[in-house]
Parts: sequence; structure tokens; C-alpha cells
Amino acid sequence: MKASSLTDTRYLPGLDIDKRTGWPDELRVLLDKFPRDTWRSRPSPVTEFWLDKHDWFRHQCSALKSAGDDYREGRSDAMVFASWLAPRLQNFLAHLHGHHQIEDHHYFPAFRAAEERLAPGFDALAADHELLHEGISDVVASVNAFFESLRKENAADATRHAADRYLACSETTFRRLLRHLSDEEDLIIPVMLDRG
Ligand SMILES: [Fe+2]
Ligand SMILES: [Fe+2]
Repeated sequence: MKASSLTDTRYLPGLDIDKRTGWPDELRVLLDKFPRDTWRSRPSPVTEFWLDKHDWFRHQCSALKSAGDDYREGRSDAMVFASWLAPRLQNFLAHLHGHHQIEDHHYFPAFRAAEERLAPGFDALAADHELLHEGISDVVASVNAFFESLRKENAADATRHAADRYLACSETTFRRLLRHLSDEEDLIIPVMLDRG
């Protein structure tokens, strides 16, 4: 999707990820038939795998946020935080990129074709991915600036500033991702269950 279509899609009324609190009634037609609290009682390897993958992303967001809080509140120093952060953030972003690739190229087209009534929801989810990828670019740039600052002498203020920038970027992305994961499940899991 190109940037121009992102603008068109992101501002569909009520579907902007930063304002969304769930789907409107017209996109809940299958969710009302298959409520969230019944999903795990309906054995399906595909839904189980996908929900477990989303839970892994939630767990990673929580761990990354918690480590950031420890640094911000003085329970770890910049070097300790950076050493812990580098491999985990890289792994998290690589998995997220791969997951979105599969959804954009396989899941979304297939489920959109299967349930055209939910098309605005799939447009919103695709727009979420675009926005999340923009946010990830900011996360990567800011964390690289943080790591770079650690290689300089007498750069404590620059390190703190760069770390604060990374923390702000990452927390925005984590917040949006958590919203996205929940809404994506509410749209797609009922389609999977409805179609067997
Ligand atoms: Fe997604
Ligand atoms: Fe997903």
C-alpha cells in the first residue's frame, strides 16, 4: 500500500487506530456470533497458532516496556539496558515484520474475499500495518542513536536524550500494536471459526 492510500484508509470514520476502541456494530456481525470467550473452547490449530503468536508479541511488548521503565527509573544503567535491549528488540521487530508480511499477502486477501462485509475492517488493519511500520522506522532510528551515543565519551546527556526518544517512540508503537492485535483477532478469528 502506498502512502497516499494510507491517508485515505487511516481516516475512515471511527477506524483510526489512535481513536479506535474496538469495531463498530457493522464489523461485529461475526464477532457477535463467535464471542471472544468461546474461542479457546473451539479447537482449531490455525486459530490456536495465531492467538499464541499474538500473545508472544504482547509478552515481548510487556518485557521491552518493563526494561525501559527500569532504565528510566534508575534500576538499570544505560549500558545494561542497551545490552539487554539490542538482541531482544531486533528479534521482536524481525518476527513482527514476518508476521505482517504473511497477513498482508495471504491472510488479509483470503479473509477479505471470504467475508466482504468486513472489508472496511481489513482496510483499517492494513492501514495499521503501514502506520506501525512508520513507527518502527522511528524506533530503529532512535535506538540506533541511543547505541551510538554510548560509543562517545562524556555524552551522558546525549545518551539520556536519545534513550528518552527511543522510549517515547517504542511506547507509541507498543500501544498501537496492542490495539491492532486485539482488533485483528476480533475481526479474523470469527471468520476462521465461521468458515471452519
Ligand atoms: Fe496484523
Ligand atoms: Fe497479527
